[in-house]
Amino acid sequence: MGADKERELDGKVALITGAGGCIGRSTAAVLARRGARIVAVDHPAADLSALSAALPSGVKPILIEADVTAEEDVRRYVASALAEAGRIDIFFNNAGIEGPQAAIADYPVRDFRRVLDVNVVGVFMGLQAVLPEMVRQGSGSIINASSIAGMIGATNMAGYIASKHAVLGLTRVAALEGAAAGVRVNSVHPGFIESRMLSDIAVRLGSEASALAETVPARRLGTPEEVANAVAFLASDDSSYMNGASLVLDGGVTVG
Ligand SMILES: NC(=O)c1ccc[n+]([C@@H]2O[C@H](COP(=O)([O-])OP(=O)(O)OC[C@H]3O[C@@H](n4cnc5c(N)ncnc54)[C@H](O)[C@@H]3O)[C@@H](O)[C@H]2O)c1
Repeated sequence: MGADKERELDGKVALITGAGGCIGRSTAAVLARRGARIVAVDHPAADLSALSAALPSGVKPILIEADVTAEEDVRRYVASALAEAGRIDIFFNNAGIEGPQAAIADYPVRDFRRVLDVNVVGVFMGLQAVLPEMVRQGSGSIINASSIAGMIGATNMAGYIASKHAVLGLTRVAALEGAAAGVRVNSVHPGFIESRMLSDIAVRLGSEASALAETVPARRLGTPEEVANAVAFLASDDSSYMNGASLVLDGGVTVG
């Protein structure tokens, strides 16, 4: 990290959903290193021990157990963040699931609804709770976790692909609704990232993550830290004129 990036987020409060996952905890670590106070939200069933280990020593996040698909939990995690940290400057709306791999003909409707519930309704309710606070504050940066699955299609992933396209749409609406108040809303679109989610998808496709890397123009997977750095950029004033933008980090997958 360049010296100019050190502590650039001093005094800011960053609320992160799915903070116990690969990308969430890496982002928590990068934002904390740049000075932000971390409010970490994850499902009650999630193991947050890796999050604590990833953070710089001495950094104590505010931990909140919440299910992003439960409206009362969403209201509670935002109210708790405001009560305990006083404000929310950065919101990484990141919790998500991949769902099953199956052709549309075989994709269980129950699973389709579940993927949309977490990845779309969860993101929507997070926006619904956080955006008015930031508008009232007159500042804030929201980063929604989409994917290259929000820009292109792929077989056997109808739920995930539909959900991540919906996140792109929600981002554009929220960006317009917050713009006049000085609130920015952008989305990140990671490609194949070294992570539990990618390994599991690869296994279910009868492949492995290293084989997927061969299909990437850059001939490698991305790292959670590379996603975290992009989120930190969108969170910071370096991106002050970016609003409603889709930031793709995919080693060139979607440009070929
Ligand atoms: N890993 C990748 O290659 C990749 C690529 C593109 C986009 N993404 C997106 O990035 C985000 C993070 O992915 P990741 O790789 O860190 O996955 P992950 O599975 O490691 O982390 C996701 C986190 O979300 C949490 N979560 C799931 N359902 C929840 C719920 N109902 N309530 C609260 N928390 C819940 C999980 O407990 C987990 O900690 C996701 O939205 C994912 O779709 C990931």
